[in-house]
Amino acid sequence: MSDLLDRPAVASDRSGAAPDPTWWRQAAVYQIYPRSFADSNGDGIGDLRGITSRVGYLAALGIDAVWLSPFYPSGLADGGYDVADYRDVDPRIGTLEDFDEMVAALHAAGIRVVVDIVPNHSSDEHAWFAAALAAGPGSAERERYIFRDGAGPDGAEPPTDWTSMFGGPAWTRVTEPDGTPGQWYLHLFAPEQPDFNWANPEVRADFLHTLRFWSDRGVDGFRVDVAHALTKDLSDPLPTAAELDAHPRGGDHPIWDRDEVHEIYAEWRRVFDSYDPPRTAVAEAWVERHRRPRYASAEGLGQAFEFDLLVADFDAAAFREVVTDSLELAAESGSSSTWVLSNHDVVRHATRYGLPPLPARAGSTESDEKQGRAWVLAGAPEDSLDRAAGERKARAATLFELALPGSAYLYQGEELGLHEVGDIPDDARQDPTFFRSPGVDKGRDGCRVPLPWTAEGPSFGFGDATAHLPQPAWFADHAAEVQDGAEGSTLSMYRAALELRHRLRTAERLEWLDTGSDDVLAFRRPNGWTCITNFGSSPVPLPAGDVLLTSGPLDEGMLPGASTVWLAS
Ligand code: NOJ
Ligand code: CA
Repeated sequence: MSDLLDRPAVASDRSGAAPDPTWWRQAAVYQIYPRSFADSNGDGIGDLRGITSRVGYLAALGIDAVWLSPFYPSGLADGGYDVADYRDVDPRIGTLEDFDEMVAALHAAGIRVVVDIVPNHSSDEHAWFAAALAAGPGSAERERYIFRDGAGPDGAEPPTDWTSMFGGPAWTRVTEPDGTPGQWYLHLFAPEQPDFNWANPEVRADFLHTLRFWSDRGVDGFRVDVAHALTKDLSDPLPTAAELDAHPRGGDHPIWDRDEVHEIYAEWRRVFDSYDPPRTAVAEAWVERHRRPRYASAEGLGQAFEFDLLVADFDAAAFREVVTDSLELAAESGSSSTWVLSNHDVVRHATRYGLPPLPARAGSTESDEKQGRAWVLAGAPEDSLDRAAGERKARAATLFELALPGSAYLYQGEELGLHEVGDIPDDARQDPTFFRSPGVDKGRDGCRVPLPWTAEGPSFGFGDATAHLPQPAWFADHAAEVQDGAEGSTLSMYRAALELRHRLRTAERLEWLDTGSDDVLAFRRPNGWTCITNFGSSPVPLPAGDVLLTSGPLDEGMLPGASTVWLAS
């Protein structure tokens, strides 16, 4: 056996040694969707105590950090991405004391904590929005949001014809305090998510307060929602939807990715750097490729999500191109790459990879296709999904991802090989994209179904009651308990991979190796850690080296199709 595993690991401080300010660069970050992770009090909703009760599971999984999707008080119009109070915990999910206990338990297990910050919009239940409605037009309270008079006679038409990201108009009319129909407010997402006015210093100051509030409570980093939309040019005359669409996105688009948004992040950076170790941040910014590094720079948020691997087909050339490009971008920003295969917004990767190409459907885009959303749009035809093939490819892609330099963002349940739940009854759905399409887009609930911990019980061990989204019978086969310690299970593979990744972690570089096949990718890290993925369907011979881990059984010493192997060479 090679001595690779005896070498000291780089950038790992799980031993309890001095805090490493670069911990995030090659971290494995596990995304928790709190309402669907574990329910400690039997009300069907996941909660913070549920997370605390599963710290042992998270530690055994071998992750470096958790990222929690919003757990703040919320009107729940968008799964918590409509925040009613940025500095509290939703009483349905717990209390600030529960939060402190959870952070202490995670830290004691060597796991860092990243929380979600939603700065583009609040909930319509936020105290500031209620104050804005009560105070009326022209008030300082309305200046915290984006209010405009309507067009047409009596202002009865919205100020523009813009549509929201979730469908339907991007403006909603309010009733004034005297009971008359009044102004309109902008919401790029649901009507329950009014956009903040980031030109207002009060808004800026309040978010600095929020960042300090959670940093003081021991939070290690932040995931920044819709980071590219905060600053807007809403000077008159406002453009039409067609003009907006046609406007190039090079820094002066009225809404998306304006250059001055970085002034905000420079200010945030000063807050992050006032802590030891500095707090980290990762931007969710769907911007043009060449504009990403600025979000990821050391003067800005420090990291930006790259979703290119997530939208790539399971295909050697596609994966290689994404990796090469992403590593270049990361080098340009001085950051590390961020790899993502699944999250709470897209069809789970086991399902995406198990789908045949579906006929295009009205309203579905190329991006829908790539995110597997076309399947959801098409009404979840279960018989078109090859579950086993999807899981096999997902495992191979995951091992490929976990061997790459940079950080890997994993989504709860992928370690159980979970598929998207396609057949949620319409009356059980929660996602606003379903209600606003209406009903055409089945929405994102299928990847947010509460986790199966045990093969039996009212909600497969999620809690003592029926879960808030219905769980399918096949969840029993994927339960954590069933896979725990089982040779060849997806959970066992994730645990082995994450444990090895700690020991093998090395400088953030890779060298592509010649494989002689268009279907096979191989790369070597500076310490000899080698990853080979066969994207094709026929077995290929393995080069010399000790086998450290495989995504599935080898075939008489050969690497079968849709499989990955890690070698020490
Ligand atoms: C991105 C989040 O990931 C998504 O879940 C949410 O609906 C939108 N931002 C709006 O906050
Ligand atoms: Ca609960």
